Amino acid sequence: MKVLVTGGAGYVGAELVDELLEAGHDVRALDVLLHGQEDVAARLDSLGVELQRGDVRDPEARKRALEGVDAVVHLAAIVGDPACGRDPELSNSVNVEGTAALVADARAGGVERFLFASTCSNYGRMADPTVPIDETGELRPVSLYAEQKVAMERSLLEGDQNGLAATCLRFATVYGVGHRMRFDLTVNEFTRDLWAERKLDVFGETFWRPYVHVRDAARAVALVLASPLEQVAGRVFNAGHSDENYRKLDLVGIITGQLGRGEVEYVSRSEDPRDYKVSFERIRNELGFEPLQRVPTGIEELVGALEQERFGDPFSPRYSNIG
Ligand SMILES: NC(=O)c1ccc[n+]([C@@H]2O[C@H](COP(=O)([O-])OP(=O)(O)OC[C@H]3O[C@@H](n4cnc5c(N)ncnc54)[C@H](O)[C@@H]3O)[C@@H](O)[C@H]2O)c1
Repeated sequence: MKVLVTGGAGYVGAELVDELLEAGHDVRALDVLLHGQEDVAARLDSLGVELQRGDVRDPEARKRALEGVDAVVHLAAIVGDPACGRDPELSNSVNVEGTAALVADARAGGVERFLFASTCSNYGRMADPTVPIDETGELRPVSLYAEQKVAMERSLLEGDQNGLAATCLRFATVYGVGHRMRFDLTVNEFTRDLWAERKLDVFGETFWRPYVHVRDAARAVALVLASPLEQVAGRVFNAGHSDENYRKLDLVGIITGQLGRGEVEYVSRSEDPRDYKVSFERIRNELGFEPLQRVPTGIEELVGALEQERFGDPFSPRYSNIG
């Protein structure tokens, strides 16, 4: 297939490109390089991926990007609660209007498959977070970011699809070493800070959240693309593993256990009340998805990369979506 990956120079996108190339697809990326990822762009070039530098909000850029494409994986977004909260107008124009325009163009252009990167944040604050929620559970988003994802899922899955087979993947929170590194995500941030011997302030330490390795997130996308249309069209899948729900307390324990050090203070804060335990049985039972990594092995990998100074300054703003 010829696959367009929007956000192909992002954290998940940069790994996905490798997965798709390995599966034999012809890959094109559309990315505005919002975080200055010139190193990632150079790597895509060296892999033979056609990188189009452009904005999903630009009709010309969308037209060029969609030419001859069989499948679209839509990752490009203003990503995360803080980034969206900081600039709601930008996030609305990219995440809502940009997405809607891309879907409309893809439909009109006869694209066969459209895979939308959604999030388990859609579950928000669960009434009973100890019982894992599945795809049929109530969505209770507690941030603009998740509200926009919920709205886009609905508009993608409802109404006349005009031949476009849409699938929504609700990713668990991603972690692990990637080519476009992000240290503004819980596992990565905690590991970096404790490794660097910075005191870590943790709030909501008993809140549950699921996690998935960045390469496994990419594998889940590749698996959906490889699955028969009748199994994935018009469907939602949580992407992760049911055993990979952790409280922040558990993450701290794993990291300090591996490092043999770490100063942590548990603080009280009212922000970010997300508390959800998620079931990933649908993607496992229906598509046979099995992640290769677990949080402890991902932390080991992160510590190894930090020890090898793979990131230069891991506190550089380029590793964060909130600068
Ligand atoms: N990382 C996670 O924990 C996580 C969890 C759930 C869902 N997701 C979703 O997965 C997708 C990828 O997330 P990520 O972690 O790789 O984030 P990321 O910020 O690393 O990647 C997003 C990419 O989109 C690009 N982009 C932003 N605005 C654009 C625009 N207007 N036009 C073209 N490109 C634009 C950025 O340059 C970046 O490369 C997002 O849709 C995100 O909401 C991520």
